[in-house]
Amino acid sequence: MKLIFLGPPGAGKGTQAAGVSAHLRVPHISTGDMFRSAIKNATPVGLEAKRYLDAGELVPDSVVIDMVRERLAMDDAKDGYLLDGFPRTVDQAVALDGFSEPDAVIDIDVPDEKLIGRLTGRRVCTKCSGTFHVSKLADEHTCPICGGEVRQREDDRPETIETRLHAYHEQTEPLIGYYSGKDKLRRVNGDSRPEDVFKNIIASLE
Ligand code: AP5
Repeated sequence: MKLIFLGPPGAGKGTQAAGVSAHLRVPHISTGDMFRSAIKNATPVGLEAKRYLDAGELVPDSVVIDMVRERLAMDDAKDGYLLDGFPRTVDQAVALDGFSEPDAVIDIDVPDEKLIGRLTGRRVCTKCSGTFHVSKLADEHTCPICGGEVRQREDDRPETIETRLHAYHEQTEPLIGYYSGKDKLRRVNGDSRPEDVFKNIIASLE
């Protein structure tokens, strides 16, 4: 299955993608993770993308579209994939339809006021990339899975979160209409326990 996760920053796309991609046996492809890895490795894409991620703005379409086209051409994505964070503009969605049309699009819906608390409290392990909310950590600096160091993401500062939410409403939300017009959209309430969100996503695909 070729599946897309839509949803604002902090909706739980990454959290749900781990379980859903394992359930469907397709690779989880996150453009945000690809950019963070490119930045860490100082690749040309990383050097270009860094200022946009730091500011909470979208990376230009041309850069993202080429990166995703190359990734989806890899062997492991031939029979399906779960795309998390792409497309994020109508131009990206139109481009994707040209090289790999998705089967279904899940919109994980969470109100803005809940998103801010989730994002300011998010901590990510620098070793295993596990994602947690600080309120659930016994030690706010240590990963409960691998013992690695957990840190706040650079773009989870309140002023950057505001820019990301603005970019979502202006540039990404129109995709709800785009995919609903193609009868591919399924909306799932993301404002409940992670295990319930997972069940609702799987049910919406059946
Ligand atoms: P990206 O990494 O994709 O960030 P995002 O879309 O802003 O999404 P997040 O990773 O912040 O949130 P999420 O929905 O995955 O939530 P999570 O599961 O972590 O993109 C980063 C940047 O890259 C962009 O700003 C842009 O610059 C660039 N970029 C990427 N793709 C691009 C594209 N296509 N075009 C242009 N630019 C692009 O959960 C968040 C928190 O909530 C965690 O603490 C978690 O524990 C908690 N949580 C999760 N589920 C629940 C629940 N059900 N109840 C309570 N808490 C929960």
